[in-house]
Amino acid sequence: DYDAGPYVPADADLRALREAAVGCHGCPLYRDATQTVFGSGDTSARVMLIGEQPGDQEDRRGEPFVGPAGGVLTRAIEEAGIDPGDTYVTNAVKHFKFVVAARGKRRIHKPPSLREMTACRPWLAAELRLVRPEVVVALGATAGKALLGSSFRVSEERGVPRPMPALDGDPADETLVATIHPSAVLRADDAERARLYAGLVADLTVAARLLS
Ligand code: URA
Repeated sequence: DYDAGPYVPADADLRALREAAVGCHGCPLYRDATQTVFGSGDTSARVMLIGEQPGDQEDRRGEPFVGPAGGVLTRAIEEAGIDPGDTYVTNAVKHFKFVVAARGKRRIHKPPSLREMTACRPWLAAELRLVRPEVVVALGATAGKALLGSSFRVSEERGVPRPMPALDGDPADETLVATIHPSAVLRADDAERARLYAGLVADLTVAARLLS
């Protein structure tokens, strides 16, 4: 079955991990994507933010959260009192999954399947082992399900700190806080946008207050 595990080097540092991820063929998503988009930040980060998968711009540039959702995220992080330099930002799935619009060339994001999320999890587990953040933030339903299982409901479980579950058997002592995905703010209509953004900042503030 799909599995990134065989591509993940044992005892690698972050740089070696990132280099190995370039060649991951653990699931078929590498075929259509431009490149692997690995996490960014360094091992001293106290907060790890986990999104869903790279978007169109991230796929082209090779860095997570550098498109419109990243703009919202950076602003919200700072407003919550978290230093962006103290964050490691990554995704549950490291390749862009998309369909091409029927007319034209626009690439439309498609949510990764449970199978793809599970296949990609060894990369996330390895990032967590190296960074050992104090707090993990799951951004949106997909990241929440990737970490907590398919019964996770972001609307019901957001903003409430909980113990980070063990990924692939690694013991974890981080605290996990889930929140909405920053692109939900972008998709909202004018009437809703400010409310959703304030909710994102409020949940990130919960995460900020957990830092020692
Ligand atoms: N959305 C995500 O979940 N991750 C990114 O890196 C960009 C957009």
